[in-house]
Order: sequence, then structure tokens, then C-alpha cells
Amino acid sequence: MKDINPSSPEFWESLAIPEKKDQINKRCLEAKTWDKAAATYDDLEKCKDYQNQINSILNILQQKGALDKKNIVMDVACGTGTYAIRFAPFCKSVTCLDISTGMLKKLEEKKKHYSLSNIEIVRKSWEDFKRDISFDLVFCSMTPLLRDIKNLKKILNYSKRFIGIVTWAGIRKNRLLSLISREILGEEIHQKGQDITIIFNYLYSLGYAPHLTFFTGCWERTKPIKDQIERMIWRLELKRPLKRNEKDEVKRILEKFADKNGLVKSVTTVRTAFMFIDKKEAKGAFSCD
Ligand SMILES: C[S@@+](CC[C@H](N)C(=O)[O-])C[C@H]1O[C@@H](n2cnc3c(N)ncnc32)[C@H](O)[C@@H]1O
Repeated sequence: MKDINPSSPEFWESLAIPEKKDQINKRCLEAKTWDKAAATYDDLEKCKDYQNQINSILNILQQKGALDKKNIVMDVACGTGTYAIRFAPFCKSVTCLDISTGMLKKLEEKKKHYSLSNIEIVRKSWEDFKRDISFDLVFCSMTPLLRDIKNLKKILNYSKRFIGIVTWAGIRKNRLLSLISREILGEEIHQKGQDITIIFNYLYSLGYAPHLTFFTGCWERTKPIKDQIERMIWRLELKRPLKRNEKDEVKRILEKFADKNGLVKSVTTVRTAFMFIDKKEAKGAFSCD
């Protein structure tokens, strides 16, 4: 039994060490996993609740002064640049880092499409990133990197003043995925860690004042059956590779859910959190004397 001392950063750090045998975590940290997801990753941006989350985060960052024409910004594990392309018009520059060539190719296309010359793209693992500068805002959204406190420490070190983190907040349920994973894998898929609780408590115990905004909603992806099969197989294969007959079974199940136009709807009930930190509010950073 660990000593329970919630005011100690070491206590939260000890709870955050990813399990070595956690296959999902391991695969989510591999570039090839995200290369496979890249083609349809941005489909989620059609969803109203997701749009609302993105716009609200953008508003908060602007109101707090974190997005400013003078500021240089870092987007860690930027993916296809969902946030970075929206930040770029409001700041001096955005450095976008990710390990996945597939995700970054999508970002490159958007950068060209919107003529965003102040976006710098870096294909590298966050663990290997090294620069002599720090950034006014370091932003990091929905990445398995957040399961490991050492990555969070690096985010803190590279931030001059502001930090923005988006991650799961206790609710993530997709009935269709649950049904299929029970049928095929004999169990439900549970992705552990990366929840806001440990991240919040760790940073709070270090003396920061993390502001939280929660987003609840339904992330709907209605796709042609072929794309939905690919996505479901991708989700299941985070757990383990599927055999030919298991992939056929996924197809057979999804066909039952297709409408007359051959579309299959998949809805995830989610609660996510956006955590904002201004280092000027940290313990010891201000005084009334
Ligand atoms: C769910 S996506 C999130 C993308 C984006 N931040 C967003 O909110 O849309 C997770 C991203 O983490 C990236 N990633 C995983 N491990 C990484 C690492 N070690 N260094 C940099 N990026 C990593 C993946 O390539 C992927 O693009």
C-alpha cells in the first residue's frame, strides 16, 4: 500500500506510471497506429459537440491572453493540426510536433490550403524534442503522452507562462464498440490513464492553479460501412491484431447496423476536460506584501 499523501507530487506521480503490459498504451505511442487513422481523423470535426469544444477552447485561450500576436506557441502531438490551424491566425508562430507522418501530411495540406506561413512542422517524438527556447503557450490535446508524468514535466519546462491540456474526464462510452469488442475479443476495451484526475492533482500539488472546463456530449461518426469497418478494426487492433475470420465478423456485425444508404452511425458519449494554467498564478509567483 502506497503512503497516501495527496499534497505530495510524488504520490500522484507514483499513480501515473503506465503499466508495462498495457498494449493499448504501447500501440497508441507508435507512429504507424496514427498513420492508419489519419485519412479519416478529421471526420470528427463535422460533429457539433466536438466543434463546440474546439471553439470554446479557442475562446478561453484568447480571453486569457495565451493566444496573442506576440506569442509563440507549441502544439505537442498536434495530429492533423485541428487546434494549430485555428491558433495560427492569432499568434506569432505555432510549432507543431508529432511522430506520425500520416497525421502531419494532413496538417501540411491544411497549412497550404489556408496559407498559414507561421506554422512550423516537426516530425519527432516529444521525448526526443530539444530546443534552447521556451514557448509562451504549450498546448497538448488528447494524446497518450499524457499518461506519463515525465512528458507533462517536459511540457511545464518548455512553457514560459501558459499551458493548455485537453484530455478525457471520466466518461467515454461507445455502445457499438462495446458490443463488437465483447463479441470479438470477449471483453470490453478499457483505456486506462490519461484522465484529467491525476494530471490535475499532480499539477495542483506542485502549486499550480489549474482551471478546468468540462465538455459533455455525443461524438457522432456516421460513415459508409467500409470506413466504419476500418475504424472498428483499428480500435480493436489497439488491443491485439485480429485474424481474418475476426475481421469478417466485424464486417458481418456492422452490416446489421447499416441504413438504406449504407451508412453506419457510431456515437461516443464523452466528457472531456480542458485544463488551463497561467504560471503567474502559481504558489510563490505572486505576493501581496
Ligand atoms: C488522438 S491524436 C490527437 C491529435 C491532436 N492533438 C488532436 O487533439 O486532434 C494523438 C496524437 O498523439 C501523437 N503521438 C503519440 N505518441 C507521440 C509521441 N511520442 N510524440 C509525439 N506525438 C505522439 C500521435 O501521432 C497522434 O497524432
